[in-house]
Amino acid sequence: MEVVILPDEQAIANAAADIVKRQVVAKPNTVFGLATGSSPVAAYREIAKRQNSGDFTLSDTRAFMLDEYVGLPADHPQSYAAFIRSVFIDHVDMRDDAVRTLNGMAQDVPAECAAFEFEIAQAGGVDLQFLGIGSDGHIAFNEPGSSLVSRTRIKTLTEQTRIDNARFFDSVSDVPRHVLTQGLATIMEARHLLMLVNGESKAEAVAACVEGPVSAMCPGSIIQMHPRVTVLLDEAAAGKLALEDYFKEVYAHKPDWQRWNTS
Ligand code: F6R
Repeated sequence: MEVVILPDEQAIANAAADIVKRQVVAKPNTVFGLATGSSPVAAYREIAKRQNSGDFTLSDTRAFMLDEYVGLPADHPQSYAAFIRSVFIDHVDMRDDAVRTLNGMAQDVPAECAAFEFEIAQAGGVDLQFLGIGSDGHIAFNEPGSSLVSRTRIKTLTEQTRIDNARFFDSVSDVPRHVLTQGLATIMEARHLLMLVNGESKAEAVAACVEGPVSAMCPGSIIQMHPRVTVLLDEAAAGKLALEDYFKEVYAHKPDWQRWNTS
């Protein structure tokens, strides 16, 4: 796992855009996994800015979403389908049909989840998976207690997550209780995991995820078992890491050939 501690959110966004550029230059038909929430928004903005300036194209890429609220139609402003369009897809040259969202209105939930998994496999798997982390350690919406080998399925949000996400709604009671989410095993099959985290409120979850025991109590900790993970943190999110100084030293002395912005 590569843990990189950067000064602020814009530095994280720049690094994420460098990684995306390197990825799409190497593989123009890259398959992305896209997260929503606040954490990746600055990165999506930076990627869109660079794509629009002609630095690279995303025209051959496609994407699979990490999760979706049950009961919100795709055109509901707080659905993740609408969110990803407004913060990212509408601003880049990806094809309109290039993003596979999860259908939160599906009548047959197991069939929707199975179809989603099948389509990821048909696409050849996810190359670069964006991730955030919840304050309770969730990735996608795999809440504490999630099976470490779970696949795409329905989950019930914890009260903590509903409170955290209430800022996007009028009140906590408007935050749906149920979600469809990629499972931990689904996420682990992506070739490269890119986690972006900022802010002190995530410091404990980050420490548990990166340095704690691998446990269903902190679902994000499963990424310790992945061979290729990049975690981009600001100073505040890194604040509770025992290895903070070491991670900084590693990054400061990264060999040139390993740098992201060399392509
Ligand atoms: C969203 C997702 C969630 C968020 C997490 C952090 O698609 O998968 O796991 O990444 O809840 O949310 P923010 O970034 O809003 O703090």
